[in-house]
Amino acid sequence: MKKVPSGIPGFDQLLAGGIYERSSTVIGGPPGAGKTTFGLHFLYGGATRYGEPGIFITFEEFPETIYRDALNLGWDLKKEEEAGRLKVIFTSPSVLKSELEREGGLFDQLVASIDARRVVIDSVTLMEQIAEGRLELRAIYNGLVNGFKRLGLTSILTAEVPWLFGDRTSLESGLGFLVDNILLLRFVEIESELETALTVLKVRGSAHAKDIRRYHVGAHGIEIETKFAGRQGILTGFPSRTVSAETLLQEGLIKKRR
Ligand SMILES: Nc1ncnc2c1ncn2[C@@H]1O[C@H](COP(=O)(O)OP(=O)(O)O)[C@@H](O)[C@H]1O
Ligand SMILES: [Mg+2]
Repeated sequence: MKKVPSGIPGFDQLLAGGIYERSSTVIGGPPGAGKTTFGLHFLYGGATRYGEPGIFITFEEFPETIYRDALNLGWDLKKEEEAGRLKVIFTSPSVLKSELEREGGLFDQLVASIDARRVVIDSVTLMEQIAEGRLELRAIYNGLVNGFKRLGLTSILTAEVPWLFGDRTSLESGLGFLVDNILLLRFVEIESELETALTVLKVRGSAHAKDIRRYHVGAHGIEIETKFAGRQGILTGFPSRTVSAETLLQEGLIKKRR
């Protein structure tokens, strides 16, 4: 199976070369963690660098807000739309669901119109609005994930997770079981500074990095950085320093036995 490059610096190395073509990835995290930026970065990279047109589906933010925020990151989405390499769609969970269920429906037409290879839903959590209970929600998620696969799309679904800090790692409603890959973004407090950490929790059928990486949302989008060296308990949000005996010796905090 072919892997697709993301266009996000440092990301593909974490997944031994990228995510699989046609796979589905959930990226969970609290508000402000960078989920929308991650999704846009993936689509912009696909459109401008890898010949893979993409569709950005937003339920929450108006397209004008998306265009503006993307432009601040140096990404001219309108230009990509005019070139037929991108589509930004503002819709509702129920319309998306029904159009995706209809073969030859609006969604199929949309994919065909730009020969789309990538899709991002921001955020999939809002599908909860149209589900009565967990079973129905699971069926809806299943429909989305399989619908995208049927159309040959590599998908990224952003998911709101309700916690800012803490050690919760499961994604609700079985979404985590349905998708191929799970990425988790979180805030970490280190010496009174807020840092951001990315963990790859699951990758179906591939090796992946198990460590927790710093990442940065900046003027050029997402950038994956180094590990949190010398810290433990990153996933709790409040890590502590791990200190080697050597450091303790050097700092005179312990003495060598004679
Ligand atoms: N042009 C930019 N320059 C620097 N940082 C930015 C820029 N655009 C967004 N960010 C950062 O990204 C964060 C929001 O990212 P976003 O993708 O909207 O998060 P989420 O979708 O998870 O709520 C902001 O808090 C801000 O720090
Ligand atoms: Mg967002």
